[in-house]
Amino acid sequence: MSAQLETLPRFRPMREADLDGVLEVENVIYPHPWSRGNFEDSLRAGYGCWLLEWRQALVGYGVLMPGAGEAHLLNISVARDWQRQGHGRALLDFFVARSRELRATALFLEVRPSNAAARALYAGQGFRELGRRPHYYPAVAGREDAILMGRQL
Ligand SMILES: CC(C)(COP(=O)(O)OP(=O)(O)OC[C@H]1O[C@@H](n2cnc3c(N)ncnc32)[C@H](O)[C@@H]1OP(=O)(O)O)[C@@H](O)C(=O)NCCC(=O)NCCS
Repeated sequence: MSAQLETLPRFRPMREADLDGVLEVENVIYPHPWSRGNFEDSLRAGYGCWLLEWRQALVGYGVLMPGAGEAHLLNISVARDWQRQGHGRALLDFFVARSRELRATALFLEVRPSNAAARALYAGQGFRELGRRPHYYPAVAGREDAILMGRQL
């Protein structure tokens, strides 16, 4: 392996053995994190579950659900110490490319209205707001709507 390749974070498929590390990150960066069962179900369903790693460190991860002619990004996450260094954009670009490989013509996702960082990331990569799903997410007080976003591929 060349020294040059080792200087860049790399994508690899997530496995069940990775879930302790994934959950460690998930529980830090989300007030309402996914459970181990959510990740296990995604792995068993054959969804596109991918890690972004730099050497042994977990930089980020995401989960892509393929559908009939479209794809749905269920999770996209960057570990706190790695945020604001372009890795979220790299993950999103990766999942756009994976969706195209799966012959999807559109990619969709949900985001909390309060999640300004994620909304800015998606808007910057061509996603447009398509509508709202009322009371979609658990929140500290009651429930929070989701904004449905999507883009053509
Ligand atoms: C949202 C998230 C994935 C962004 O990843 P990141 O690696 O920090 O983002 P990047 O460095 O790639 O930034 C890409 C763009 O996103 C936007 N962005 C990222 N963090 C931001 C912040 N804190 N405030 C405002 N905009 C932000 C900016 O538009 C940025 O472009 P710029 O650097 O040219 O201004 C990351 O903050 C995260 O994992 N958050 C917690 C989990 C989460 O909310 N996931 C999304 C659920 S829908």
